[in-house]
Amino acid sequence: MSAEPILASLLPDTATLHDRDVEVGGVSVRDLAATFGTPLFVYDEATLRSRCREAASVFDDGVAFASKSFLCGAMARLAFEEGLCIDVATGGELDIVLRSGVPASRVILHGNNKSHDELERAIAVGVHRVVVDNFEEIERLRSLVGPDSPLDCLVRVTPGVEAHTHEYVRTGQEDTKFGFSVASGDARRALSNVREVPGLTLHGVHAHIGSQIFDIDGFRATMQILADFTRDDDFDELCLGGGLGVPYVAGESALSLTEWGDAIRDAARQAGLGANLRLLAEPGRAIVAQAGITLYRVGAVKPVAQRTYMAVDGGMSDNPRPVLYGSGYEAFDVAQPLAERPQRVRLVGKHCESGDVLIDEAWLPASTGVDSVIATPVTGAYGYSMASNYNRVPRPPVVFVASGTAREVLRRETFDDLARLEV
Ligand code: LLP
Repeated sequence: MSAEPILASLLPDTATLHDRDVEVGGVSVRDLAATFGTPLFVYDEATLRSRCREAASVFDDGVAFASKSFLCGAMARLAFEEGLCIDVATGGELDIVLRSGVPASRVILHGNNKSHDELERAIAVGVHRVVVDNFEEIERLRSLVGPDSPLDCLVRVTPGVEAHTHEYVRTGQEDTKFGFSVASGDARRALSNVREVPGLTLHGVHAHIGSQIFDIDGFRATMQILADFTRDDDFDELCLGGGLGVPYVAGESALSLTEWGDAIRDAARQAGLGANLRLLAEPGRAIVAQAGITLYRVGAVKPVAQRTYMAVDGGMSDNPRPVLYGSGYEAFDVAQPLAERPQRVRLVGKHCESGDVLIDEAWLPASTGVDSVIATPVTGAYGYSMASNYNRVPRPPVVFVASGTAREVLRRETFDDLARLEV
């Protein structure tokens, strides 16, 4: 890390840095903090739309947005409008997407433990695909699917590939709760069990090897394994899941969605897969991460012998990723985004534990202090979607900005919202 100003490449596409403000989507970020309060999630619609379009153009029809990375009605509609299907992993995600008005025929249901009710609803509304994960699920489907209640599916397989990423978000290795192992023969058995269920149409296989992956080799290796595994199956679809990494801090670099898609397509060609096969993926992070920034207000600055703690009005409840995965972030002062950042602080939240660290070593301008509004960029993925009410902290609102206008798509939670479940 250094005292350099924040890198514009970590910010949303439309961000412009001025001496005393930052604009995103043509809207002053300082005004956003004043209007909506802090903490606040701000998403640049242009970035979201451009990433969705990129995914839709580099993969075939059926490519999906992984909604677990960030879901609300506005986001589901946006991804749908830009040509993507929506991947949901639970009945709750399915419900939000259906409420948003996105047709069920553009929804793909995932999950390693889908309940009878989740499957029943998916079939009743007519989802595009269910991705089958285990033998019990096949039996559940046998009781639900029939000539009058048909279902299209993929089978999720485990290729046995170790992706280079944090072990909590690694899923392609043999030792995993997800999918059927190719090596053990379970995947082959699953295909034949699925084929025996009347009304269940099998289109192909799916593999997802992990998340926040920078290295293309794992995707290539997976493609080769899937090609070998499905060579005689005459499938019309193959889905390589999500997983494309994004830069969070200076010094990191990642492939674009286009480069990733081209590399996957190239690997499929080299593995001898036919051109009539629809090549699909379901990126989440690569679509939403860079589009989002979080605004906080500094409330306390506490120098101790070892360092200075700077406390903001959010924390691990709106961004648990640093605590969960040791993820790094950067911060900048929205009132002086072009300034050097010589002040080293530990950026912490307002929760009652020492683990509540947003940035272990954050660099900020010398004059940033109490009442400054600071922003952490690249918080669009797995921030709001993993937000909690720990310490009964209400979740922040989410604002979409575009063409000089801000619209609130999720309002701030209130204490009444928090009390709603009391019986
Ligand atoms: N498809 C499947 C089947 C998945 O399980 C996932 C993510 C995705 C697609 C989207 O992956 P992406 O393109 O976003 O990497 N909470 C963690 C990430 C968990 C990812 C879970 N599955 C984090 O904050 O890093």
